[in-house]
Amino acid sequence: MKTKPKSASKAKSAPAKRAQSKSSTDAITLLKTDHKEATAMFRQYEAGKDKLSDARKTKIAGDICDALTVHMKIEEELFYPAVAEEVDGAEDLLAEAKVEHNSCKRLIDDVTGGSPGSDEYDANVKVLGEYISHHVDEEETELFPKVRKSGMDLKSLGAEMLARKNDKADMIFGGALAG
Ligand SMILES: [Fe+2]
Ligand SMILES: [Fe+2]
Repeated sequence: MKTKPKSASKAKSAPAKRAQSKSSTDAITLLKTDHKEATAMFRQYEAGKDKLSDARKTKIAGDICDALTVHMKIEEELFYPAVAEEVDGAEDLLAEAKVEHNSCKRLIDDVTGGSPGSDEYDANVKVLGEYISHHVDEEETELFPKVRKSGMDLKSLGAEMLARKNDKADMIFGGALAG
């Protein structure tokens, strides 16, 4: 007379051997893809800013801010803490990354709270793009190589980040973004 537990599978902690559906997600590859997409959106804005309608500018800038917000969240919630735990000598780079994220968040607030008709709007988007470009450069040339070299498991971390990214994107694009 055994009563079946609701769900016997309480998430095994051992990393699953089978590949995540198609290809496994490498954490660094995922982040670099985000970087590329953000860079492309900044270029699109910059190239069109003098001829785009205010509505179009708001849309592109909003998409940039949403994408960056999700990206920074998965880095802060998952990637950076995992790196802090598993990679020796990354403390300074991580501390710097967090300061850079904070500067970017302030600019994101300025953009999302701004009006596309104002002079500062384009300037805020441009400076945000410059900050991001600098930050991406540091991640890709200093932090990521160090992480890659450490041999930490970037596949299971990547899968976790991808799942979290999809959740966050739902939250933000569903309109529930709270600062
Ligand atoms: Fe970052
Ligand atoms: Fe990043």
